Amino acid sequence: MDNRTEQLRKIKEEVLALKSSPLYKERIKNNVFPVIGEGSHYAKIMFIGEAPGRNEAATGRPFCGASGRILDELLASVGINRKDVYVTNIVKDRPPANRDPLPEEITIYSPFLDRQIDIIQPQVIATLGRFSMDYVMRKFGLDNAITAINKMHGEIFDARTNYGSIKIIPLYHPAVAVYDSSRKQELIDDFKVLEKFK
Ligand code: URA
Repeated sequence: MDNRTEQLRKIKEEVLALKSSPLYKERIKNNVFPVIGEGSHYAKIMFIGEAPGRNEAATGRPFCGASGRILDELLASVGINRKDVYVTNIVKDRPPANRDPLPEEITIYSPFLDRQIDIIQPQVIATLGRFSMDYVMRKFGLDNAITAINKMHGEIFDARTNYGSIKIIPLYHPAVAVYDSSRKQELIDDFKVLEKFK
């Protein structure tokens, strides 16, 4: 097995056994899966959402419900194939009733995301929604550049990692267009920023 695949498989095993998570009990009770991530292990672009929803927990796949259909449309609008990118979330188990992730949940799951970034070494991290924006901006020391997501969406931020320089691009969460289809064009316009990185 390729080294990246092996390291990512190890993350999956660790998350499966993560009894210390407050969401572990929910996972067992509901007989659902954690969602680790999916896509190319050599992706140039990594998309990071918030947490699995109902469909994702039922299948173990990220963004496979209503938000996923919007994400697929957004990717298609800029000619990006989903299999060429990597899609994951900060929180790997579904919060009950799709509530916002709690700070302690982000604390428990974010080390797995950090490892996924180190393994895949994307050149661009596109965050989907304010939770992943906030986490990723802080992780790369860009705390001072954080404002509201409605100001930052579609902007490109430069950051340094231990494997070189990268771009961080905060984007709206696709769910925005699930709840209000009149906003889809705004999301499509933001995605155009990714065209030069594909
Ligand atoms: N919303 C997210 O943030 N992530 C998913 O995987 C699905 C919906």
